Amino acid sequence: MIRAEALTKEFRKYERRPGLRGSLGTLFSRKYETHRAVDNISFTVEAGAKMAYLGANGAGKSTTIKMLAGITTPTSGRCLVNGIEPYLNRRANAQSIGVVFGQRTQLWWDLSVPDSFRILQRIYDIPEKVYRRNLRLFQEYLDIDALASTQVRKLSLGQRMRAEIAASLLHDPKVVFWDEPTIGLDVILKDAVRELINHFNRELGTTVLLTSHDIGDITSICDQVLVVDRGKVIHQGTLQELISTAAYRSISFECGRQDLAAAVAAIEEALPKAIATAAGGHRIRVDYPIDHLTSKEVLSCLLERFDITDFYAPEPELGSVVREIYGTGKTA
Ligand SMILES: Nc1ncnc2c1ncn2[C@@H]1O[C@H](COP(=O)(O)OP(=O)(O)OP(=O)(O)O)[C@@H](O)[C@H]1O
Ligand SMILES: [Mg+2]
Repeated sequence: MIRAEALTKEFRKYERRPGLRGSLGTLFSRKYETHRAVDNISFTVEAGAKMAYLGANGAGKSTTIKMLAGITTPTSGRCLVNGIEPYLNRRANAQSIGVVFGQRTQLWWDLSVPDSFRILQRIYDIPEKVYRRNLRLFQEYLDIDALASTQVRKLSLGQRMRAEIAASLLHDPKVVFWDEPTIGLDVILKDAVRELINHFNRELGTTVLLTSHDIGDITSICDQVLVVDRGKVIHQGTLQELISTAAYRSISFECGRQDLAAAVAAIEEALPKAIATAAGGHRIRVDYPIDHLTSKEVLSCLLERFDITDFYAPEPELGSVVREIYGTGKTA
């Protein structure tokens, strides 16, 4: 459905020199430096997949999406969306994609939301039945009718995002590119947006490529993950595979009436690489790095020393995995 082949985008930037003298100097003799925002990226997104596109600020996500949406042309390499090279055939591409850029609007500033939608219906040639079905869904999930009488320019950020999201789905696109779609939305609406896109994916097989700095969006919507760092892909696979790259695992247990401070000290003495913390009540949490300790070692150490009455081993959090990757630029 989506294929990127050695996709590359370079920007020419003016060389910056420090200080006022430097700035004045560049007014007269400007030098360019080339910045590779997207560096030789290749990946595939199968039809019906829900792919998260992750990376720290400036990693190249929006630039990639702009190429996939046909808004910018690659410096080299190419991409295909539904078999079309988007920037070569923007019209045909637009028919099968839906786009949300949290940072800028796709709507008409001076029109109301219903007027904008009627125009989109004509542009995309949306059959009345599909149009009405989708408006009913947007009302159900996004309370879109509440925005009816206001010009787009007067909507709050969250209100505008509801309209943007609806507009991106209005024509039953095969693929949606959502770049930070839940910016400005409250928790209830975030949930609604996540349910709405999952509904489209389930009912129509809509393929999703999503960027978001909200981990909740990723875990509620996506099953696949693509991670970029400084323009390069550093991980592609399932969400589960990414989570399993977490450097730490954790175990919590209830240890009856034992002295918690003594128990914590005993664990850290027996397992110097582990971090033990009293976690309220009679519970102790042990975090351990998997490149130094196996789960078996940790478990047998705990079972030997404590009268364990209850036990939890939560899955590593995606948030901490992402923090590790953004910090180091590496996945395991
Ligand atoms: N039009 C442009 N001209 C020059 N440089 C650009 C342009 N657009 C993006 N860049 C640069 O390309 C790099 C990648 O930008 P991009 O917007 O793709 O990042 P991003 O991954 O979307 O980040 P964020 O999470 O902050 O949205 C950045 O260093 C940015 O400064
Ligand atoms: Mg971006």
